[in-house]
Amino acid sequence: MGGSKQTVTPNHPKGGVLSSLISASCWDMTLYLPVLLLLCLCRLGLTDETSMVAPEDHSCGEPVFRQEAWRSVGGAVERLGRQLLNSLQTGPEQPNVILSPLSVALALAQLALGAHNETQKLLLSSLHAHTIPCYHHTLGSLLQHLTNTSLQVATRMYLRPEFEVYQSFVAESLHRYRSEPAPLISVEEVNQWVEDATKGHITNFLPSIPHDIVLMLINAVHFKGEWEARFDPQLTQKDVFYLDNKNFVHVDMMRSAKYPLSLLEDGELGAQVARFPFKGNTSFLVVMPLPGRGNVSSLVTKLNISDLYRRLPQESTMQVQLPKFTLQYRQELQEALTSMGLGSLFSGPDLSGISAVPLQVSSVRHACGVELSEEGADASAATSVTMMRSIPIFFVNSPFLFALVDHASLAPLFLGTVTNPAPDTSPMRINSLLGDDPHGNRTQSDSTNSNNDVQSDGPHSSNNVQ
Ligand SMILES: *[C@@H]1O[C@H](CO)[C@@H](O)[C@H](O)[C@H]1NC(C)=O
Ligand SMILES: *[C@@H]1O[C@H](CO)[C@@H](O)[C@H](O)[C@H]1NC(C)=O
Ligand SMILES: *[C@@H]1O[C@H](CO)[C@@H](O)[C@H](O)[C@H]1NC(C)=O
Ligand SMILES: *[C@@H]1O[C@H](CO)[C@@H](O)[C@H](O)[C@H]1NC(C)=O
Ligand SMILES: *[C@@H]1O[C@H](CO)[C@@H](O)[C@H](O)[C@H]1NC(C)=O
Ligand SMILES: *[C@@H]1O[C@H](CO)[C@@H](O)[C@H](O)[C@H]1NC(C)=O
Repeated sequence: MGGSKQTVTPNHPKGGVLSSLISASCWDMTLYLPVLLLLCLCRLGLTDETSMVAPEDHSCGEPVFRQEAWRSVGGAVERLGRQLLNSLQTGPEQPNVILSPLSVALALAQLALGAHNETQKLLLSSLHAHTIPCYHHTLGSLLQHLTNTSLQVATRMYLRPEFEVYQSFVAESLHRYRSEPAPLISVEEVNQWVEDATKGHITNFLPSIPHDIVLMLINAVHFKGEWEARFDPQLTQKDVFYLDNKNFVHVDMMRSAKYPLSLLEDGELGAQVARFPFKGNTSFLVVMPLPGRGNVSSLVTKLNISDLYRRLPQESTMQVQLPKFTLQYRQELQEALTSMGLGSLFSGPDLSGISAVPLQVSSVRHACGVELSEEGADASAATSVTMMRSIPIFFVNSPFLFALVDHASLAPLFLGTVTNPAPDTSPMRINSLLGDDPHGNRTQSDSTNSNNDVQSDGPHSSNNVQ
């Protein structure tokens, strides 16, 4: 392995370096997610023997076109994310699904390091990695690149003290994915690690650790990004978010009368696509179905981030509304992974690269949180809000799909469908909004009014902005 220079320094998620306060009055976004694979003993056996960790082609060095290699891994992460979103549909009791395809990919890739034969093939093909040369190497270098941006990645391998794993698996996990081995002692200790790695955002991750668990592969990612163009907190106010053409909720709506946005109306996709950039080479992609043109679930299968990023135009100034929200999501992924063809992980996998003792996966859990929020309210509050000229609008006021995208790899670091940003508020009927026509077919391009007229005609249309 040509890239063997990676230092395997312990990943200390506690370092408070990044928590330096971002300047006042900014809107920023925080996302975090731990993924966990629990492995249990399925039968006792005797161990010892040197193992054979699935060898990756040792000619994997620094590729000439590093960004191209990252993009192929980014595309693989996206495919995995699409499949997960597809199997984790939203419903009335779970209106939003948010996850980090990158974090799930990392967990499965680490497992693949210890898998053999069919199990290894299965894992690599569900990671869409089987066609990518030097997958582990490239994913490892992408993770290093990402920790250079706004993403913190922490990885750990918890082992029962008496349980023997092959040294080669430990070494490979450390080398590829900086996964530090640690003794599995108590659920409190694990939960504390998760809490630290997510900067306090995910607490009590695990209710308990069953006694038959001998090994846990766990990672946590944490993203904190600052909008390149901030919203003015003083302009935020309750406004309407249309759940469908009959119901709405009131949400805190961030507003800007002049926001530099890259916006695309994609007829084929039947959606509006917008990119909100963060400082530092990542951005928040919103894909919102046009009224009467399908729903977010039907959009998922058609999502192609690299295609959209290629076609998104230059930024131009427009009037924008974006909901402010905090959402949490916790999910056991066994069912979703089984529906994706990975059921054998939970019955009789070949994990003989990890230990001589037969192992099977007993659980894959994750928790994810997204906060589009205000930090500090000092303010450059007096930005000009009067519109001087006609500008188009983009109001995120109906269900949407989002992706948080790294520009170098175009990998979706986080991906989600939001059908109700205020799940704890009771929906109201639209006809209680006087004069509203939910079927109005106005789109952003013909709402270029230059005055302050109220136009309340449903999703995608303008509401009153002073
Ligand atoms: C996106 O579309 C291009 C072709 O337009 C294709 O090569 C690429 O694999 C697609 N990416 C994903 C993640 O589906
Ligand atoms: C792969 O499976 C074959 C039989 O299915 C077995 O003979 C072989 O030992 C296995 N290889 C490894 C590395 O486990
Ligand atoms: C991360 O940043 C350091 C220093 O800024 C640089 O030397 C290194 O090459 C970067 N790593 C990647 C993978 O971009
Ligand atoms: C963003 O990417 C460009 C080139 O790809 C690089 O020069 C710049 O340093 C990056 N910025 C940050 C904050 O990482
Ligand atoms: C989304 O649309 C598809 C068909 O396009 C439909 O089968 C599905 O039930 C819809 N989902 C929701 C949540 O409305
Ligand atoms: C909406 O679309 C229908 C048919 O597509 C058209 O008849 C109607 O005039 C449109 N309404 C508005 C307000 O543009």
